[in-house]
Amino acid sequence: MKGLILSGGKGTRLYPLTYTRAKQLIPVANKPVLFRVIEAIRDAGVTEIGIVIGDTGPEIREAVGDGSRFGVAVTFIPQDEPLGLAHAVKISRDFLGDDRFVMFLGDNVIQGGVSRLIEQFADSSWNAQVVLTAVAEPQHYGVAELEADGRIRRLVEKPREPKSNLALVGIYMFDAHVHEACDAIAPSWRGELEITDAIQWLVDHHLAVHPYVHTGWWIDTGKPIDMLDANDHVLEELAHVIEGTVDGDSRVDGRVTVEAGAQIVNSVVRGPAIIGRNSRIVDSYIGPFTSIYHDVVVERAEIEHSIVLEHSEIRGIPGRIADSLIGRNARLARSSVKPVAHKMTLGDHSDIGLL
Ligand code: G1P
Repeated sequence: MKGLILSGGKGTRLYPLTYTRAKQLIPVANKPVLFRVIEAIRDAGVTEIGIVIGDTGPEIREAVGDGSRFGVAVTFIPQDEPLGLAHAVKISRDFLGDDRFVMFLGDNVIQGGVSRLIEQFADSSWNAQVVLTAVAEPQHYGVAELEADGRIRRLVEKPREPKSNLALVGIYMFDAHVHEACDAIAPSWRGELEITDAIQWLVDHHLAVHPYVHTGWWIDTGKPIDMLDANDHVLEELAHVIEGTVDGDSRVDGRVTVEAGAQIVNSVVRGPAIIGRNSRIVDSYIGPFTSIYHDVVVERAEIEHSIVLEHSEIRGIPGRIADSLIGRNARLARSSVKPVAHKMTLGDHSDIGLL
């Protein structure tokens, strides 16, 4: 069994963060989403992984390397244009050969336990397995209509009038029949070769496509709010540890991780939260559902339900920062230089909500 991770895409809905960083590398609970996907596949015992990359390929290659630090062997597969998920399978044919494989979208975060599902498929006689979950707005996804006995009747990509609320989660498992399917289908209205159409082809040709209905949480991290949601869920699932230092004037509760080299000084950290490597929290309050990445300074400030990326500084801010996504090397401080005013240098597409 092999793994195929799709990690192209521009991430336009996460601008400005994704002007300078691939969306799959934005951390959730201090670990890039793509790394979580690699680990989920590895934990199922799959160690040969292909990663399909697009415009952000160089950055992804650099972050992942040859995969050895995850205990896997990674092959990068460049996709010149985002022509669809089935197109990504087609260009990966040499890597995949005739092996069974699991395909995972590199920006999806799902509740633990999918590794078992992959193991089960490896040992099964099914030709494909899809993961479905109930969603509020199925029209934005591939949607599955099931028969009364649970088999798949029909799969439609982004239907205007969905026949069910079961969306295709970005995790798919296939045997070699999918290659025939990908060769047989035509591009959709959006000009993409849809994996949904390829799976429908398998159903139409009486191949065994097993639907698994996932009842835990699943987040397709397209927008800032999705990143914060995924962060909430993963922080709740983490087994928290204190490796850094917490001074005697600070209070840190049991659901807080303090990574090595981090310092908590005269501060309160209320979990679930994570403070990254070599970050300093001084005279501050860090509230629930906050991830502070590495080498950040927070001084005389209050922040909750937020993600702060590496090398940023937050100092002396009046009021509490909440529901925020702060990029790398950002500086947020009270200005002592006259005139007294809000002074900012914001990237394109920044979004600031002042008191
Ligand atoms: C893709 C698939 C869709 C699936 C979704 C899951 O959509 O085409 O069937 O439900 O991923 O995230 P896209 O992200 O390309 O719009």
